[in-house]
Amino acid sequence: MKLDITTYMDNFLDKELVKKYSSRKEEVFQKLDTAYMNGWLSPDESSVDEILKVRDKVFSHSKCLVVVGIGGSFLGSCALYSMFTSYFKKQDFQVIFAGTTLSSSYMKELLEYLEGVDFSVNVISKSGTTMETSLTYSAIKKIMEKKYSIEEIRNRIIVTTDSVKGNLRREVEEVGYSSFVIPDNIGGRYSLLTPAHLFPLSFCIDIRELISGYMEGLKLKEEAFSYAVVRRSMFDQGKVIENFVTYENNFYYYMEWLKQLFGETEGKNGKGIFPSSMIHTRDLHSLGQFVQEGNKILFETFFKIKNSSSCFIDGKELHPINLVVEDSVIAAHVSGGVPCVVLEIDEVSPRNLGEVSSFFFLVAALSGYLFDVDPFNQPGVEVYKSEVRSRLNSIGEKYEK
Ligand code: PA5
Repeated sequence: MKLDITTYMDNFLDKELVKKYSSRKEEVFQKLDTAYMNGWLSPDESSVDEILKVRDKVFSHSKCLVVVGIGGSFLGSCALYSMFTSYFKKQDFQVIFAGTTLSSSYMKELLEYLEGVDFSVNVISKSGTTMETSLTYSAIKKIMEKKYSIEEIRNRIIVTTDSVKGNLRREVEEVGYSSFVIPDNIGGRYSLLTPAHLFPLSFCIDIRELISGYMEGLKLKEEAFSYAVVRRSMFDQGKVIENFVTYENNFYYYMEWLKQLFGETEGKNGKGIFPSSMIHTRDLHSLGQFVQEGNKILFETFFKIKNSSSCFIDGKELHPINLVVEDSVIAAHVSGGVPCVVLEIDEVSPRNLGEVSSFFFLVAALSGYLFDVDPFNQPGVEVYKSEVRSRLNSIGEKYEK
């Protein structure tokens, strides 16, 4: 992984601000090392063998795995799953990500579809009480009860939750499902290397490769700090939006993952950089106008992929053309007053994405400290939940979290 935070940034940066935030390095490193939720800095790999064993069991009796989870219990695995599976080829084994909506038309179709396939379920919830997850899981269990015996259901439900707390853990203890643990000291959005994501991902990639890349990324603390300083300085200079840009359509959910990571980490106490994303070249024909000539509130972080699948059109290789377009867009945006960071990887592989992902964890956490907020909580999410709870309770519906 190569990070360029100077070429298209230096001319815009206020050097005094950079000096001010750079001087906080020892303080924020110390805060990170002693943080109450920093389990993601030393992930426990001991569950890998069990993950592969349970995956093989699922392969032996199912054609589909329904992953039920939301937020940090879904975005990481969905991001990498969509990156490493074909755009068009029908998979021999399908993974469906559900539990992210209360749309009845979606739910109806999902349940009807599941009636006709042999499937297993991996329900993922650290708390065990998230509304969307609980409702979807409960609806899917009803379908299972129509199709399978009690013994078969026991073999087809895999629960990933807290080691002791919550409804799901209680259910595991009562019924005896296979289960995995989300450690106490790792929050949802930092949980990529826990079974919450490793188990669903074991169906499409070599998770050991992902883990080894992730461990490499954790070594990039100095680089992550420099990027965090640039981001923090940009914010003080009125660049309150970071636009993540990709030239690969299958990075869509990875962008969503980044948005959650930075949005939930920094967005509190009236502070934080708003994370947005664009897929080029598609969005050059829509939001591109705003970036080039609109309100100068953005800076951008471009993902550059050096090598991609070989595809020739009219005798010309396509990927180099995509890269020329990317370089041209960066130059145009810089000339329009938009500072840019470029993050380059050789190719899209589980190892490289592991490295990039743990690097972003470091950037997010260190940025959070530079904003003087707690990078690991998300108190704001509770506000809408309590509003929902009181309204649902008033119409007689129970809502637990
Ligand atoms: O990052 C977070 O903590 C949240 O996005 C949670 O992951 C999300 O709300 C789901 O929570 P749970 O895993 O408890 O169902």
